[in-house]
Amino acid sequence: MKFFIDTANLAQIKEANELGILDGVTTNPSLMAKEGIKGHDAIMNHYKTICEMVDGDISAEVIATDFNGIVEEGKKLAAIHPNIVVKVPMIKDGVKAIKWFTDNGIRTNCTLVFSAGQAILCAKAGAAYVSPFIGRIDDSGWDGVQLVEQIKHIYTIQGFKTQVLAASIRNPNHIIRCAEVGADVCTCPLDSILGLLKHPLTDIGLAKFLEDAKKTQ
Ligand code: E4P
Repeated sequence: MKFFIDTANLAQIKEANELGILDGVTTNPSLMAKEGIKGHDAIMNHYKTICEMVDGDISAEVIATDFNGIVEEGKKLAAIHPNIVVKVPMIKDGVKAIKWFTDNGIRTNCTLVFSAGQAILCAKAGAAYVSPFIGRIDDSGWDGVQLVEQIKHIYTIQGFKTQVLAASIRNPNHIIRCAEVGADVCTCPLDSILGLLKHPLTDIGLAKFLEDAKKTQ
C-alpha cells in the first residue's frame, strides 16, 4: 500500500517525506485555504513547490464544475509537472472530463466518492485513482472501510486498473484497516501516519533497555 500525505502544509510534507515512506501528496481547496494560499499564481507555485519536494504523484484539484472549465483548468494543472494528477469531483461533467483526460494522456483522481456505483463510473472513465472518503462516511454513521473493500472487490473481479485511494483518514486504525482490505493507497494527515509509530510497550521497553544499558557502560 502506498502512503500519501493529505495536506498542503509544506512543513508536514517535509516531515513525512524525511521519514522515507512517502509516495505522494493529495491536496484539496480546503487544505490550500487552510495554508492561506490565495490567487492563481500562488496556487500554481505551491503545487510546483510540492512537486519539487516529493518524488511521487501529487493530486491538484480543479475548481470548475462544468466540462469545458474542468478540462481547461486540468490542462493547466497537468502542465505544472509530470507528477501532477488532476483531481476531479464525482459529478456528471467530472466523469466526462475524466474520460477526456484519459483519452489525452492526463492522469486523474476522482474525488468525493461515497458509493460503489460512483466508483464504477470513475473506473469506466479511466481514472488513475478513485478516492472514497472514509472518515466522512464514518461520521455519517456508515462504515467507510467497508466501501473501500467493496470497491477493491469490484475492481478486482472486473479487471479495472483504477487504484483505490482511501481518503478522509482520521486515525491510525483507519490506515491499518485500509491495508487489511487491500487499498492501493492511503492518503493521511501527518498525525495519523505518526500515530502508527506509537505503542506504550515500545516506550516502556526502550526506557528499560536504556536504563540497563547504563550498567554495561
Ligand atoms: C482527499 O483527497 C481529501 O483531500 C481528504 O482526504 C478529505 O478529508 P477530510 O474528510 O478530512 O476533509
